[in-house]
Amino acid sequence: MRDLDAELHELRARIDRAARVCVLSGAGMSAESGIPTFRDALTGLWSRFDPAQLASEEGFRADPRLVWDWYAQRREGVRAAQPNAGHLALGAFAQRRPGVLTVVTQNVDDLHQRAGNADAIRLHGDILADRWLQPCRCRPRRDPGEAEPGRPPRCPGCGALVRPGVVWFGEMLPEGAMEAAERAARAAELMLVVGTSGAVWPAAGLAGTARRAGAFVAIVNPHDSEIDASAQLLLPGTAAQILPRLFA
Ligand code: APR
Repeated sequence: MRDLDAELHELRARIDRAARVCVLSGAGMSAESGIPTFRDALTGLWSRFDPAQLASEEGFRADPRLVWDWYAQRREGVRAAQPNAGHLALGAFAQRRPGVLTVVTQNVDDLHQRAGNADAIRLHGDILADRWLQPCRCRPRRDPGEAEPGRPPRCPGCGALVRPGVVWFGEMLPEGAMEAAERAARAAELMLVVGTSGAVWPAAGLAGTARRAGAFVAIVNPHDSEIDASAQLLLPGTAAQILPRLFA
């Protein structure tokens, strides 16, 4: 029979010995903070929409109000949420052993940052940030913060629309983010993958990158993921249950 306690104990010892640890997190990391995973966020009122309709430039251009309202609802959820015991354990570890941990997240919320990992690398942007859909054409250019309130807000001069600062389907990742994440994955002696389905690339490839560079790779997820084969250890459990036992 499997002895999960002993495996956690051993992994904890590895973390304590490691000079570089990388955590790759996904939507499951924030699930216990009450932020629905991407797929869960499409339930209820939104279940009749397909993800590409709500999370793509094409979808936004087709119906800016609909997409803006969907993000406005998700932003409210993020603002109301608090970091869970998993986020807090990682934040406390970063304070205790500065320079050891790099958090790379696919999440667009700010819970890692609020928990103390101020420099977490955000591969998919920031849902609370505003950007222009197309550059403001005013001279001088206005900042998205100067837009007229609306659904979505618009530039009072040129009419440019504001959009949320997330990475939509088909878009490039924020400049430098993937490069920084790959450096962290290659440098890590230990990579812990938490709460991701491993279905979205290039983020999903980071576990394999770390493994090929010699890292020990462990996955925390109550369910199977598409990158389980990259890991030496699968820990069936949730972020808030497991991470405090490894990092606190
Ligand atoms: N603790 C750990 N893992 C959990 C928990 C939990 N409490 N709850 C759910 N999970 C796991 C699920 O089993 C699933 O494998 O989290 C994963 C969530 O998967 P997705 O919703 O696909 O999230 P993610 O992998 O982050 O998706 C990647 O897809 O649409 C994009 O930009 C969006 O960043 C997101 C990306």
